[in-house]
Amino acid sequence: MASEGKNLIGVDIGSSSIKVVEIAESRNGERKLVQFGYHPLPRETVVDGHVMNSGAIIEGLEKLFHKQKRRDVALRASGHSVIIKKITMPSMTAAELAEQINWEAEQHIPFDLADVRIDYQVLNQRQGQGQMDVLLVAAKKEEITDLTNLAIEARLKPKVVDLDAFTVQNCFEVAYGAPDPLQTVVLLHVGASLTTLNILAGGTTAFTRDIANGGNSVTEEIQRQLNISQEEAEAYKCGGGKGLVPKEVPQIISQAVEALAGEIQRSLDFYLATSGDRDIHRIVVSGGTANVRALQDAVARRARVNVETMEATRIAEPDPKTVDVEMLTSRSLQATVACGLALRKEREKST
Ligand SMILES: Nc1ncnc2c1ncn2[C@@H]1O[C@H](COP(=O)(O)OP(=O)(O)OP(=O)(O)O)[C@@H](O)[C@H]1O
Ligand SMILES: [Mg+2]
Repeated sequence: MASEGKNLIGVDIGSSSIKVVEIAESRNGERKLVQFGYHPLPRETVVDGHVMNSGAIIEGLEKLFHKQKRRDVALRASGHSVIIKKITMPSMTAAELAEQINWEAEQHIPFDLADVRIDYQVLNQRQGQGQMDVLLVAAKKEEITDLTNLAIEARLKPKVVDLDAFTVQNCFEVAYGAPDPLQTVVLLHVGASLTTLNILAGGTTAFTRDIANGGNSVTEEIQRQLNISQEEAEAYKCGGGKGLVPKEVPQIISQAVEALAGEIQRSLDFYLATSGDRDIHRIVVSGGTANVRALQDAVARRARVNVETMEATRIAEPDPKTVDVEMLTSRSLQATVACGLALRKEREKST
């Protein structure tokens, strides 16, 4: 999307941590990553997409922004209250579409239209068929307002709210260039509580799905089988913790990721069966749980496609004067959404 002005600061309020990325773009278009902030959130701050402990989020935002003068931010909306659908409509002008879209949305969205905010984008015209594909997004106003209100309470100015699926895509396209229209690329973002799938085909989004499963289920399994605390299980999962990692841990992780990999494969199978697309060419994973090698392997084995990890920091060279580069490198998969958000600008040109 064409845009101008300064970059907004990307703020990703995830269920396990807040990530902040700031990018500065020079006049010649060169980008620098000038800030990366990470703040872990206490357990149960966000449950099933609902904020249960708003104090912890406001406190985290205040801490992350306490030295920051700029306050214009792009926020990530939780996928728990959002529906994304690709629909086919007769070809029409932009003005006609603006008029028709609410009626069309009513047929496809199971929420009361009074409670949702509708957004849409024409993906492509089906040449010769008199039809076009439109991406329809419906988000519950209440949950978006909750999140923006929290940011406002922390004295931030939210200018843009976007979804994981699209921010990851934004990051991917800037990091690797526009996707080859002849290739099908699966962007798989696996966080603590949520997995988001965005399949790009013909150069645009062809399918998205959220799966309510992520790294938490792996931690819970370690906790249950070894009868230890959540903190210990989490540390063992990430390869650390007190003393040696018990020898059972890799085995438990391998077992635990099978369920998630199975759900992901069912979504891929569904896409292949319904889209007429025959092959998946690339799978690019991001999100904290993409660090789990056993998950990458389980996905690759099922899909019979090589799995790559997203190199989000390709979008901008980190400035070592202001960024803890070591921390950014170790958390780069977790920074993907904040990176995608940090690419958004103050003003979007209406072309
Ligand atoms: N090195 C690592 N090895 C294994 N798991 C990791 C590693 N680093 C982070 N994780 C896991 O990644 C998850 C956090 O990832 P991320 O920051 O993307 O989630 P989130 O944005 O807070 O959550 P969500 O978007 O699902 O609400 C946690 O489950 C954490 O245990
Ligand atoms: Mg997340």
